[in-house]
Amino acid sequence: MTSHHPSAAITGLGSYLPPGRVTNEELAARLDTTDEWITTRTGIRSRHWASPGTSTSDLAVEAGHRALKSAGLELAPGSVDAVVLATTTPDHPCPATAPEVAARLGLGNVAAYDIAAVCSGFLYALATASAQIIAGQAERVLVIGAETYSTILNPADRTTSVIFGDGAGAVVLSATRDSGQDGVLLGVDLGSDGANRDLICIPGGGSRQRSQPADPAPEDQFFTMQGKKVFAAAVTRMGESSTALLERVGWEMGQVDHLVGHQANVRILKSLARQLGIPEERAVVNIDRVGNTSAASIPLALADAAAAGTLTAGSRVLLTAFGGGLTWGSVALTWPDIAPC
Ligand code: COA
Repeated sequence: MTSHHPSAAITGLGSYLPPGRVTNEELAARLDTTDEWITTRTGIRSRHWASPGTSTSDLAVEAGHRALKSAGLELAPGSVDAVVLATTTPDHPCPATAPEVAARLGLGNVAAYDIAAVCSGFLYALATASAQIIAGQAERVLVIGAETYSTILNPADRTTSVIFGDGAGAVVLSATRDSGQDGVLLGVDLGSDGANRDLICIPGGGSRQRSQPADPAPEDQFFTMQGKKVFAAAVTRMGESSTALLERVGWEMGQVDHLVGHQANVRILKSLARQLGIPEERAVVNIDRVGNTSAASIPLALADAAAAGTLTAGSRVLLTAFGGGLTWGSVALTWPDIAPC
């Protein structure tokens, strides 16, 4: 099939986890929690946390490098036309982290910007990057999701400390004139509900707090989440977004071979699959080994499932995510014949 506008296809995939693995037992030794509670309530057994001195750009550079290698691209100017980094944990409040990542990868003076959509960030980044390609503004874009949540977790808060992990994943999106090529993003659905912004929030550090006359409270720098409300909204919003997208793409739910949902809680993934009428075993799960890695979650799950041979070329893949904002999004594609690095 050919069309007037180019399409955007995934042509490379890379991932990186910092070496420090933290087990539930290690957390139970310092927090009022147990391996049993964490495993049964979340499905998480361990997560990776970056060592002190390691920041989000360090993980993003590693994953970006691997994605470029997977796509057969050099670390050189001209390889990509833009770098988009989805993250909740930028190296600094200002400037964005993507320009540093582009520079350290040796990609030249390309367009580079961050996307802030918390756990939906990677799908928002895929959407903007693919729109640049479809509009003819870019031929190839490096799209990265990278997080160091360990730097924003309140060590005294058991409800968040046991859930979140660090990591990075990246894809290369490339223009193609063949809209039927495997890897082409067939459709995108995005949404938000800012009325519920307080459910997931770092209260401090921004202009809302800086504009107040009162001295900031130190704990306001930490990430907070109202878990139960977030759980319910996650299942509903990912379900609605997935349904709306598949109607537009023209797929039946039963045709989805792999549901790659944001890895927030294994119970959310199972509820979502049940609600959509997709057999539970089609839901990709790697949260047991990485926890909730927010913007890195979807590409890490893809890399894991591709490396395990679960995702095979031509299979129908539904990506769906939900996060702070509130935000959510879904993307559909058939899996490309690529080797993840
Ligand atoms: N260890 C032991 N007990 C814990 C605990 C922990 N780490 N964290 C919370 N608890 C306790 C609570 O204090 C509560 O105790 P209480 O009944 O005495 O008040 C009890 O466990 C149940 O808490 P609740 O929050 O109702 O549990 P839950 O079943 O909803 O699970 C989450 C909590 C956070 C795992 C779950 O709500 C969740 O996964 N939410 C969504 C997270 C998400 O999607 N995030 C991503 C969006 S970006």
